[in-house]
Amino acid sequence: MAIRFIEDLPIGGKRTFIRVDFNVPLSKGKITDDTRVQAALQTVRHAVARGARVILASHLGRPKGKIVSELKLEPVGARLAELLELDVIAADDCIGDGAKKLSADLRDGQVLLLENLRFHAEEKANDPAFCEKLASLADVYVNDAFGTAHRAHASTSGMVKHFTEKGFGYLIRKELKFLGESLGKPAKPFLAVLGGAKVSDKIGVISSLLSKADAILIGGAMAYTFLKARGDDVGDSLVENDKLRKASEILEMAKERGVDLVLPTDHVVAANFDAPTCEVVSGDIPSGKMGLDIGPQTLAEFADRLKTAKTVFWNGPMGVFEKEQFAQGTFKLAEALAESNAISVVGGGDSAAAVKLAGLADKMSHISTGGGASMEFVEGKVLPGIAALEE
Ligand code: 3PG
Repeated sequence: MAIRFIEDLPIGGKRTFIRVDFNVPLSKGKITDDTRVQAALQTVRHAVARGARVILASHLGRPKGKIVSELKLEPVGARLAELLELDVIAADDCIGDGAKKLSADLRDGQVLLLENLRFHAEEKANDPAFCEKLASLADVYVNDAFGTAHRAHASTSGMVKHFTEKGFGYLIRKELKFLGESLGKPAKPFLAVLGGAKVSDKIGVISSLLSKADAILIGGAMAYTFLKARGDDVGDSLVENDKLRKASEILEMAKERGVDLVLPTDHVVAANFDAPTCEVVSGDIPSGKMGLDIGPQTLAEFADRLKTAKTVFWNGPMGVFEKEQFAQGTFKLAEALAESNAISVVGGGDSAAAVKLAGLADKMSHISTGGGASMEFVEGKVLPGIAALEE
């Protein structure tokens, strides 16, 4: 079904509600990573240039329907104003008389930022009366909050039916291009690299990738569940024992479909996360030790496979990359991906953070701004925030 793009919407002179995802990490009131603010700029700038009366709305954190002063959008508004080089008018609520008056008084090209949507429990509850109140602020609706598109909340889903003029912005268009088109009909060989702690988080994605990928390389703690399911000794490594059967089924399915499911052959192990020393072991992991990163031989094999890939999707770190002694697998993998000629798509969350930390963000074709949203999209699930925009 057709969804319109912001360039095709009559936003000039109109109050235009733009749902953005300004859910940025904060520490002591300061934004520690402004990627999501930067990612919204193209859409906001476009709306301003066309003389729209821009009303921005976002959630920040999980305040559970209460006003939490640390989760006010003030630092985000300040950063946005700096980046836009424009004044950003701040509302102290997202509904009510104040927000109504500010939106009604907007002049063409002005930008208003509503206060955190989740200060109202009705946002997550997708409450119809709340949807109506939000919708009453604007004439046109634009969603550019890809990171929140997997949530059926008032601002991403329920309020949209009140608009005939609606569509998505530049960020969602870009996310759909890479996660949808590039991974949907990938140039082959298509390689997926999956990591992170839990198999349970990745079952849907692996199942979907098994019908598209030529190989799936697995690192991170989730590899130990697969290795144990295969009969290897994994010592004291993190294992999801209730997912062993599922892991065996996935291994079997990969074999049937001719997909190479590649598990680590060596590991960086230590007594625990905080142990001062670590060592590399090949094959089985002895008891008393836990695997905390992929070893050099595995890394070389993964890097080698990346060289010939035409499309790569990466989600999840290869080890406990927050600790220097267990970070090599993740950072070196990021380097190998940066050097490859493949279309490289990095899912949001930890792998995106690792790529940025390694200073390699601009070497990737696309880093998704969505953690949960990008995974659900690659799994093939319908994202409510996108579905709501269909004509
Ligand atoms: C995210 O950071 O993944 C999105 O902003 C959604 O946030 P949520 O998981 O709190 O709904």
